[in-house]
Amino acid sequence: MSGLDKNLPVLVTGGGGFIGGWLVGELLRMGHGKVRSVDMKPQSEWYQVHDRAENMVLDLRGLDACRQAARGQAYIFNLAADMGGMGFIETHKAECMLSVLINTHMLMGAREFGAKRFFFSSSACVYAADKQTSADVTALKEADAYPAMPEDGYGWEKLFSERMCRHFREDFGLIARMARYHNVYGPHGTWDGGREKAQAAICRKVIEAKQSGKHEIEIWGDGEQTRSFMYIDDCLKGTLAIMESEIIDPINLGSAQLVSINQLVDIVESIAGLKLKRRYKLDAPKGVRGRNSDNTLIKKLLGWEPDICLEVGLEKTYRWIHDQMVSARTGAKAVGAR
Ligand code: NAD
Ligand code: GDD
Repeated sequence: MSGLDKNLPVLVTGGGGFIGGWLVGELLRMGHGKVRSVDMKPQSEWYQVHDRAENMVLDLRGLDACRQAARGQAYIFNLAADMGGMGFIETHKAECMLSVLINTHMLMGAREFGAKRFFFSSSACVYAADKQTSADVTALKEADAYPAMPEDGYGWEKLFSERMCRHFREDFGLIARMARYHNVYGPHGTWDGGREKAQAAICRKVIEAKQSGKHEIEIWGDGEQTRSFMYIDDCLKGTLAIMESEIIDPINLGSAQLVSINQLVDIVESIAGLKLKRRYKLDAPKGVRGRNSDNTLIKKLLGWEPDICLEVGLEKTYRWIHDQMVSARTGAKAVGAR
């Protein structure tokens, strides 16, 4: 482990989003004195705004914007991407692929201004489709990304950008680190509007059912598809450990607690204290049938394992979404609201 020098400037792109917002907060909490946070959304829409950071609004699809963001930065966490859950990535493939502009131009900016380290947030969506056809899936090892047949659109872009990071290291000496995030959740994430992922969507739907008294829920697919879900605190610890490490190839960062979507709903129902009639929308976006993270490598190399189980993480997420929904209804601003 190299350890990041807290006196050197750090850039987080996508700092107005879910993981980026948390990462900026964590870097400041750890004592990093110069943290720059960049996002294209107007600041009023950032999920978290940290006053001690240098907050900039830039569209990082452009090279000039990436040069402006990267200038003088020693460490770059590149998290900006046009992304979302299944409902978004299955219906916005071109937009997802245009994130290649962000990743290309950020790498060029990092190289030009001599960044010491570069982090790329890749995804479990790089894994080959034929290894994810069963709900009882074998957990995915890093090598399972090849031969390549990733998630259409979004997954191809992530896999391509992983390769670009690798070649910037080989050809230009840029120290690039890559994590393959498996579905991350927690407070201050997207919970409505179409980009939300299953955990937040199910929390919102259960709360809506509770508030309306109409005790039913719509679930996409037959509910037997499986996933593993990683709580944001574990994601932050792993992200920092990977950035500081000497691991040059992309590595899994995810939970290995495999659950079906029906089991996810069971947990959220028990947090809410109710049972709902389930309606299955079979023609909704479903993605792969099963996906889990094989954590053998990250455990061996970094000793990293998730600390937060799904039941605990969902309870925190449910409470936060509940507060957002109550405040949206009453017009009051919830504590910690964006
Ligand atoms: P998010 O959507 O909450 O955050 C991404 C941020 O990037 C958004 O605030 C968005 O406004 C910003 N952005 C998009 N286009 C931009 C542009 N052109 N210029 C500047 N900013 C731009 O997503 P997140 O969950 O925080 O994900 C962060 C990263 O991790 C992304 O690269 C994502 O693909 C990756 N990832 C996330 C998950 C997950 O489950 N959350 C899983 C796998 C990979
Ligand atoms: N979003 C959502 N909303 N999904 C639902 C819902 C719902 O109301 N009901 C059931 N699901 C099902 C989906 O059909 C899918 O089979 C499963 O829950 C998981 O959906 P998501 O959480 O939206 O996405 P994902 O796990 O397939 O992919 C996500 O994780 C990847 C990393 O592991 C996405 O966020 C990707 O962008 C990300 O890279």
